[in-house]
Amino acid sequence: MEPNSSADAVAASVAAESVARLTALFRNQSKFHLGGKENWSISSELVDFLLKTLHPGQATLETGAGFSTVIFAMFRCRHICVCPDVGEMERIRSFCAGNAIAMDTVTFINEPSQIALPKLQMGELDLVLVDGGHGFPVPQIDWFYTSYALKIGGLSVIDDIELWSCHILSAFLKKETGWCSLGDIGHRTAVFEKTESFDYKEFCDQPYVVEKSRMRSLVLKARRVLSLIGSGNLGELRHRIKKLSA
Ligand SMILES: C[S@@+](CC[C@H](N)C(=O)[O-])C[C@H]1O[C@@H](n2cnc3c(N)ncnc32)[C@H](O)[C@@H]1O
Repeated sequence: MEPNSSADAVAASVAAESVARLTALFRNQSKFHLGGKENWSISSELVDFLLKTLHPGQATLETGAGFSTVIFAMFRCRHICVCPDVGEMERIRSFCAGNAIAMDTVTFINEPSQIALPKLQMGELDLVLVDGGHGFPVPQIDWFYTSYALKIGGLSVIDDIELWSCHILSAFLKKETGWCSLGDIGHRTAVFEKTESFDYKEFCDQPYVVEKSRMRSLVLKARRVLSLIGSGNLGELRHRIKKLSA
């Protein structure tokens, strides 16, 4: 994620400064969502993180669209935005045209991410923002398909972890090998660095699933014991305890 040379570093810091200036100017003006009536933008903490992290020319992808898309455009990232809402795309395009923000590095894919991502050629990505559909399992689908394309050292940014569907993805990744948690940003966002090549793993190789399943299995056993006691079936209970201690 670091720039390659000192010239790149200077270009990146100039870009970050001018994007920061424009961001302060634009942030509260933009209503891209719900037919132009709402602003469901990423938090100001996540805006600051993107300003510190992005560099011109990086390959990025987001699910969902909004002010974040404008930031990727301002940074001249080679950006893919996957969002089914054509109205949002048109409002973002016209906002950018009206404010002299070039959009030629941004490609919109107007489909739900769960349909688009499995068939999309993404190339190698530096950063992914998961902020599209929030119903289970869309955040998981977004993370899963983009993880193949993310470079080792690239970042997967999971937004809205206050929602259970996003929270369990973040909790899962905090225990998962191949990912390093870089911590939460504010209360809403978790950031993970990909540290190994990615592929699907069976549940027994996923520490979070193993831990949660062990707990669940203990709870189920305890419930069974209580129900045997409750029904007065002490013979069966003795039999089971004997089997356990054999
Ligand atoms: C919270 S908003 C995104 C906010 C945006 N990141 C910003 O900074 O303004 C959620 C977005 O997800 C989009 N969306 C809803 N369902 C989706 C899906 N299945 N696939 C992709 N995007 C979806 C909505 O149209 C909306 O743009």
